[in-house]
Amino acid sequence: MATNLTGRSFVNMTDFSPEELWEVLKTAEALKLERYRGQPHPLLAGKTLAMIFQKPSLRTRVSFETGMTQLGGHAIYLAPTDIKLGQRETTEDIALVLSRYADLIMARTFGHDIVEDLARHATCPVINGLSDREHPCQIVADLQTVWEKKARLDGLKLAYVGDGNNVAHSLMYGGALTGMHVSVATPAGFEPDRAILSESQAIASTTGGSVAVGNDVSVLAKDADVLYTDVWASMGQEDEAEARRAKFKGYQVNAGLLSVARPDAVVLHCLPAHYGEEIDHETSRLPNSAIFDQAENRLHAQKAIMVLLAG
Ligand code: CP
Ligand code: NVA
Repeated sequence: MATNLTGRSFVNMTDFSPEELWEVLKTAEALKLERYRGQPHPLLAGKTLAMIFQKPSLRTRVSFETGMTQLGGHAIYLAPTDIKLGQRETTEDIALVLSRYADLIMARTFGHDIVEDLARHATCPVINGLSDREHPCQIVADLQTVWEKKARLDGLKLAYVGDGNNVAHSLMYGGALTGMHVSVATPAGFEPDRAILSESQAIASTTGGSVAVGNDVSVLAKDADVLYTDVWASMGQEDEAEARRAKFKGYQVNAGLLSVARPDAVVLHCLPAHYGEEIDHETSRLPNSAIFDQAENRLHAQKAIMVLLAG
């Protein structure tokens, strides 16, 4: 069934229905093929993306900016010091002003409420480029990556190991929307948000998937088709990094953990990685590691999102 995402924002993973998510994934795959064939696709010619960053970035900034160039449009980078979101003027005024210039806004924020506020007040679509609660664009790229490697998503087991953070939250939703079996293993006290767990379980019950959370990493990673990890301390938690290192020992993707997963398990990490902490360098370079495919797919997935929201 054709969907209509035009004019909509993408702030939460659940802003897309399963059908809409599949439309995004198929569009991403088509745009990737066209790019590989050298076929130009200026679908956003003359359009502008305003990118607000409260936190650092490599992949998000470069993939959105490059994506806009490839689509014939233009992207403007607004550094944390440029607009001082919430300090120099209100989020509401920033949203209203940017909407008068830009056709799309992407924002990487601390509080999730900030990106939600932007979407509430902007008159153009707003895309979440990571907040403390969610990282939905990352998960669209990750689902594209798994789909490429396994030719399906429904019924696959994805085990996430580490901190119950923004990436874990969007993965729980994304896995639930696509009928995957998601298991999240964290140290006690670092479990994902309870409301997100129950919401993703409710979605999974309609798609044939499941979502489980616990502390026993080898039980939760058993027979996984996909092993996923992310940093133990996220941006904004730098002061906790040392204390977390002690608590997260044992929650590392390495040869030992791979041995409990399926032999053909795909290894994922959204990057940046802290090698020797949540993953060892050797495991990240194994043939079944797809971490750089994931990074590349940020480009294709976000181009699809931008085309469908603002095309
Ligand atoms: N994975 C990701 O979002 O990377 P950046 O923080 O470099 O954008
Ligand atoms: N959880 C990490 C993801 C980085 C892309 C963070 O928020 O810093």
